[in-house]
Amino acid sequence: MALLIQNGEIITADSRYAADIFVEFETITRIGTNLEIPEHTEVIDATGKYVFPGFIDPHVHVYLPFMATFAKDTHETASKAAVIGGTTTYIEMCCPNRTEDALEGYNLWKSKAAGHSACDYSFHMSVTKFDDNTEKQLREIVKDGISSFKIFLSYKNFFGVDDGEMFKTMTLAKELGVIVTAHCENAELVGQLQAKLLNEGKTGPEYHEPSRPESVEAEGTNRFATFLETTGATGYVVHLSCQPALKAAMAAKSRGVPIYIESVLPHFMLDKTHAEHPNHEGAKFVMSPPLRDKKNQKPLWDALEQGFIDTVGTDHCPFDVAQKALGIGDFTKIPNGIPAIEDRVNVLYTYGVSRGNLDIHRFVDAASTKAAKLFGLFPRKGTIAVGSDADLVIYDPNYRGVISSKTQTVNNDYNGFEGMEIDGKPSVVTVRGHVQVRDGKFVGNSSMGELLRRKPQHF
Ligand code: URP
Ligand code: ZN
Ligand code: ZN
Repeated sequence: MALLIQNGEIITADSRYAADIFVEFETITRIGTNLEIPEHTEVIDATGKYVFPGFIDPHVHVYLPFMATFAKDTHETASKAAVIGGTTTYIEMCCPNRTEDALEGYNLWKSKAAGHSACDYSFHMSVTKFDDNTEKQLREIVKDGISSFKIFLSYKNFFGVDDGEMFKTMTLAKELGVIVTAHCENAELVGQLQAKLLNEGKTGPEYHEPSRPESVEAEGTNRFATFLETTGATGYVVHLSCQPALKAAMAAKSRGVPIYIESVLPHFMLDKTHAEHPNHEGAKFVMSPPLRDKKNQKPLWDALEQGFIDTVGTDHCPFDVAQKALGIGDFTKIPNGIPAIEDRVNVLYTYGVSRGNLDIHRFVDAASTKAAKLFGLFPRKGTIAVGSDADLVIYDPNYRGVISSKTQTVNNDYNGFEGMEIDGKPSVVTVRGHVQVRDGKFVGNSSMGELLRRKPQHF
């Protein structure tokens, strides 16, 4: 089946022009004006709309056994919400814990996704312990098409690695050409501060942030960077939330350490006062690193605009109100996570491009192209070019709406961005040429998504 997208304005990370896009099967085969229309071509009129490359969310949790429960999504629910929001590829954190086998975990995570996703996907492979067996298995997983590892400096005794394991993971990553992504918080300090606060009777969600202060994240970021510098591996800080951590990462960048920075939507838009809402309402806003003092938001926006923050992801991780109640009387037991996969593109567009100072090309870069480049998907994904997958977002900049849990697709009973206005939304979304969203509604196939096999990259 052929598809012609006519009269739209194509916007990529580095270009903006009016042209039509012709798609055959799953691939863009022509871009131009006055393109011939063969018989049986479906024509989509994009007059007055932007045509963006499909957006890529580089940090999501779908299947996640964590904190005595499971994140609420399945790939069906997460991927539908993703494509409605303009995301056509996501990279899920594959997270077996320290007591589990890496390869068994990888196969389990793959089985949860296979045949159940409405968009394409890949995994960052978490390394939650490092022994001889792990090393052998990681080599096999990389051969299978996974070219990024994930380490946690936090979540001691569950996902967390110690410094020795971090060193060994980076040494292997350097050899294999694999990028190491990292959650950077000092696990020991978090544990000590949590115990101290609980001892003082400070048990509500508002104490989550004080138990993981900015300095704890800055230390983790600095240590991660120092290990990259020592091993020569390339790294990517996930969900960087505050100015001190940004300074640590920037200092490393400026002395030539190959370190990239991701921040996630909640940290640009929400702050620690949300976790202070009474009657345990604040638990809806508990994630790690925590929502911060609002003063951190401007430095994050500035760094994003200037390209020092490379990507914007979500850290999508839905737990409903009943699951959040597991932490009533003990904030350390509140399942950590906020869902955002459906709202990332619209909120970033609205508060960055439409109402802020984010250049529209930097927006495309941060929400799509840069992740494609860093994680070995470019130019198949992350751009609009002949030969690229036909992952296209026909975006209506004249749409006006308000985010509400009542109208969301995401599988949860609240929305952290409730009540926020949005100045645009995807009208049509294609994944490899399949029309998955039409008139803003899911009309597609929820099992056509494929695991993207990626090659190691020697940075
Ligand atoms: O609070 C969060 N971020 N939940 C998901 C696990 C993680 O740390 O990414
Ligand atoms: Zn994390
Ligand atoms: Zn995460």
